[in-house]
Amino acid sequence: MTTAPPPPVAGGLTPSQLTTFDRDGYLVIPDALSPATVDALLAETRSLLEGLDLSTHPLTRFSTGGDSGRDHVGDAYFLGSGDKVRFFLEEDAFVEGELVRPKERAVNKIGHCLHELSAPFRQLLLPDAQSNNRSGSSPAAVARSLGFADPRVLQSMVICKQPEIGGAVPPHQDSCFLYTDPPSAVGFWYALEDATLQNGCLSFLPGSHRGAAIRSRLVRSRAGVPDEEAGGTEMVENEGAAFPRGKGYVEDVGAGDGEYVPAEVKAGTLVLIHGNLLHKSEKNLSQKGRIIYTFHIIEAEGTVYDEKNWLQPPAGGFTKLYA
Ligand code: FE2
Repeated sequence: MTTAPPPPVAGGLTPSQLTTFDRDGYLVIPDALSPATVDALLAETRSLLEGLDLSTHPLTRFSTGGDSGRDHVGDAYFLGSGDKVRFFLEEDAFVEGELVRPKERAVNKIGHCLHELSAPFRQLLLPDAQSNNRSGSSPAAVARSLGFADPRVLQSMVICKQPEIGGAVPPHQDSCFLYTDPPSAVGFWYALEDATLQNGCLSFLPGSHRGAAIRSRLVRSRAGVPDEEAGGTEMVENEGAAFPRGKGYVEDVGAGDGEYVPAEVKAGTLVLIHGNLLHKSEKNLSQKGRIIYTFHIIEAEGTVYDEKNWLQPPAGGFTKLYA
């Protein structure tokens, strides 16, 4: 059974963009951000990196954690980051437990609540007239086009993909990390620097969102307890719905089928990513960084946000995208 596509939304995606997103599971929208906006978001990123105080940062100890119990400091720092701005370091910035890069060149990502706590990033969520989005690509308009009734924003982050050490990201589906029953996640991914084959651009398995089920999920080892007692995270089998509601997706294509298509994009480009779509990126071995900003939306109406998900809602709930 399939549902009819939602009617066109003023200021949202065009019918042809919707067709492409439904067919491929991702959509590239060049020039979604003006150069001035890109500059402002990069300036904010640099300012955040400059403000990082490594002397009090738990991940400087996390890398040498092991049996000492320090791992749990790192676990709680991660699990508690959903409503904060925190810094996560590149594995290859350390040699034998020692940080060997300046902090600006050591951070893998900054997250996961920039969409609330950073004014320049928060502004991206405003409607077109008040935001820095070019007309037609404001997140609310896009979400309306995609049929979201009550989209909520979560897991916003800057990913630096540092020169020479920016780590590879293996094939994955975002709904494994932000699971709702049924799945509903969509990623908004903004290039703030050009993303190329050399510096580790994204690549996608087109159409895999229609065949690749959400088979496993990243969860807290213990749910309903303080972050310090959650025991970190683990992958478990998904026993809930494996595809978004009403799309008629059934066939399981698996992770290894088909050919990944790289998406080299210019700074200012927005890429929308379906939560079931398989995607990945290679390690950045080049001398050029690849700074991007991404956040996700989930449907709050008619779905259940899983209480074991690594990211749990703050007291007031996840950020509403619609005013
Ligand atoms: Fe992803």
